[in-house]
This record gives sequence, C-alpha cells and structure tokens, in this order.
Amino acid sequence: MKEGKVKTLFACDSCGSTFSKWAGQCPECQEWNTIKEQKQPAASSPYHGYSGALSPVQPISQVTLSNTPRITTGMSEFDRVLGGGLVRGSVVLVGGDPGVGKSTCLLQVCCRLSEKMKVLYVTGEESPQQIAMRAKRLRLPDQHLLLMAETEVGNICATAYQHQPQVMVIDSIQTMHTATASSAPGSVSQVRESAAQLTHFAKHNDLAIFLVGHVTKSGDIAGPRVLEHIIDVVCYFEGNSDSRYRVMRAVKNRYGAVNELGVFAMTENGLKEISNPSAIFLSRLAEPMPGSAVMVIWEGSRPLLVEVQALVDESHAENPRRITVGIEQNRLIMLLAVLHRHGGIITYNQDVFINVVGGVKINETGADLAILLSITSSLQDKPLPTDLIIFGEIGLAGEIRPVPNGQERLKEAVKHGFRRAIIPKANAPQEKFSGLTVFPVEKLSDALAAISSL
Ligand code: TYD
Ligand code: MG
Repeated sequence: MKEGKVKTLFACDSCGSTFSKWAGQCPECQEWNTIKEQKQPAASSPYHGYSGALSPVQPISQVTLSNTPRITTGMSEFDRVLGGGLVRGSVVLVGGDPGVGKSTCLLQVCCRLSEKMKVLYVTGEESPQQIAMRAKRLRLPDQHLLLMAETEVGNICATAYQHQPQVMVIDSIQTMHTATASSAPGSVSQVRESAAQLTHFAKHNDLAIFLVGHVTKSGDIAGPRVLEHIIDVVCYFEGNSDSRYRVMRAVKNRYGAVNELGVFAMTENGLKEISNPSAIFLSRLAEPMPGSAVMVIWEGSRPLLVEVQALVDESHAENPRRITVGIEQNRLIMLLAVLHRHGGIITYNQDVFINVVGGVKINETGADLAILLSITSSLQDKPLPTDLIIFGEIGLAGEIRPVPNGQERLKEAVKHGFRRAIIPKANAPQEKFSGLTVFPVEKLSDALAAISSL
C-alpha cells in the first residue's frame, strides 16, 4: 500500500478553529500564539482508515429495541426537564451562570440517589470539606455519596472504572483537563476533549454523567456551543440574583421533549421544587399600576401566568434606551416599530424599560401583545385592569396571530381569577367561558381600541 502523505493542519488552542496556514494571531478569536500544528495522515485509500474489521449493517426495522429504564432523580421538576428521569449511559450538561445553584441542585440529587445506587461526585472547584459541610447543613442523606477532588480526566475515568458508580457528577467541566490534549487547562479544546473522553467513558460503562458547565458572558457554555453536539441532554439553569426562583430548561434532549420547564426556589435550606408554578411570576400588587400586564405563556406542557412591567419615560439621550430583562431586546425594538407604524404611537423620544417579573426568560412570541399593551399603558399612565390577561403574537403588518393551546391558557387564567381576556381572534373560544369576557382582536388597532374601552 502506498505510504499515506501527511497533511498538516493548524488548530487554535483557544477556540478550536482550524487553518491550513500558521499565523501568530488567530483570525477567529484574536488570541495570540495559540495556533499549533496538528498532523493528520491523508487518505491513502478510498476506505480511509480501514482497520480490517467490518461493522454489521441491518435494516432499521430489525434493530432490537430495549426499554431505557429511567432513574428518577428524586426531584420531579428535574425529571420533567430530563424527559421523565435520567437515562443510563447518558451525559447531561447542566449549564448556568456562576452562583445560580448548579452545585446545590446536583448535590441534593446525588445524596438522594446515593441511597439506592453508587454515586461519585467529582469536584474540581470546591474542596470536599466545603461540599460535605453543605450536605450537612442541608441535612441531606450523605452516608453513601462518594466524593473525589480531581481534575484530570484520565484519573477520573480510572477511578470510576474501579468503583463502578452508576451516576457521576463532574463539577465543573471547565476545571477539567486531559493529558492527551496539549493546550492550557480551561481552553476550549481542553474542555471539548475532556467532555468527549467522559462521554466515551459513559457510553462504554453504562453510567450516567452530569457535567456542570459555567456559561460565559456571551451566554454559551465554554465558547460557541462546543459541547452541545457530543452531549445527550443540555439544560440551562436560569434566574437572576434578585429573585429566588430558578427555572431549568432543556434546550436539547435525545430522550424527550425540549423546552419543558422545571421551576425551583432557592431557599436557606437549599433548592426546593415548585410543582405548581403557574402563578408565581405575578407581583400581585394591591393596586392596579400603569405599565403592568399579565399574560399566559406556554412552556413545555403547561401554562404559566407571567407579569410583564414596562416603564416608558421621556428620553434626553440622542439614542433613547431600550432595556429589557427577560425578553430579547431586538424583539422590543421590532414591537416598538409595529406600535408606531400600525398603532400610530411614537416612542422615539422615550426610554423604554421592560422587566419580566421573577427572572423568567420568555422566548415565546405569544408574549408580544402583552408587552405592547404594557408599554402603551405606561406611556398613557393608565393602568390595565387587574383581572385582565393578554396573549397573542404580533406580525410586522400589525396583525395579531394565534398561539398554540389557546383554550388551555384561558382555562388557567380563569382558574386564577382573571375575568377579562384580550386574545387573537383565531384563539377565541367556540363556546362561552363562564365568568370570562373575551375581547377577540385581529389587528393591533383592535387591541388598542379594546383597552381604551375597558
Ligand atoms: P451554587 O450551587 O454553589 O452555585 P453554582 O454551582 O451554580 O455556581 O449556589 C450558590 C448560591 O446559592 C449562593 O449564592 C448561595 C445560594 N444558596 C442558598 O441560598 N441556599 C442554600 O441552601 C445554598 C446551599 C446555597
Ligand atoms: Mg458550583
């Protein structure tokens, strides 16, 4: 056989990008002296690296199906995010801002799991003493949980192989490094290589691994989505520091639905789950306040009532400010343009601030109408009634589009004492809802007319 020609490839240690030429500064991430040579044998035959063994091929219908039994974590909200519990041999990434409660959550889960199976908690951040103290303080069942302070992936896998745990936690993946990658600990290629080795280990030993990942400032885990493709389940912990509520959301799940939401509260005694969260994101002010609107959003398989607050104030800056907490800033800018073009309401000389109560992040476009009506309410200094709920998506032509699960949203609102609803015409119920007056709207102008008639 012809000797394979060695092709040279250069890769950046920091961001993982590859180039055909060396450079002093990485054109992708702008880091200096991070580009190193990587040798790759070029294809020497049409079969590339054929090793002499053939893998079996079978029709998809004849693949033997085995039930994947789920391990319940002891927290039903966490199980819900995982799609019904933890699957053996799976790797779950738990991401979130530092301090949001990832370690606390996993310590609680692991202590409970350790009562029925072998669980190994690997810490690269806190000392075993700190973790043990926390378990004591939270009065967790800590008799059987195994702890290890280690950051080298080879050592972790060797130890895990010896002890054969069924569940392992790596806290955090950013502190891990592997002797097989030459780059500095903490760099993207180290994190990626460490995660790949741990994933390989999980699949071969049928154990479930939780990887804790800190989110970087840009909102990604250790650089641009470098881990998501090798991991089975990716979930993010959200919540801001001034609220005690924490929301966990799956953004990728090979074993279940995504966007299922788990809701928790951080208390002095650790993380507590909230199994009926539908009304926790309401501020419940005693008096109606201008700028406040309540909407029903749909998260995973259940409705949530969420209050949005707007403050519109005269701007003295050249560029008026558009500041949002809980919704995307670009969505707000688009909604303000629609409000101007189709509602005739100008805001170019106004600062607009939007806050979603309770630190929940809203990705759903069904929130559009409530956001716009909260803005007009603040601008006109006219409160919306406290028994009014609003939902509906707004299109660029000023049309109000329907949202999924309209009936269920209305039912939830009625259950919580709401008596009036401004909703898309296509979502209007066929039969009358007892105790609910519905204002079906087709265009933004209809909605603006509806609120001035209230
Ligand atoms: P932690 O789990 O260490 O966060 P992460 O691992 O995501 O960085 O959580 C730390 C925060 O949680 C800290 O700010 C204190 C708070 N906390 C409580 O409020 N109550 C508790 O019982 C515990 C253990 C932590
Ligand atoms: Mg931590």
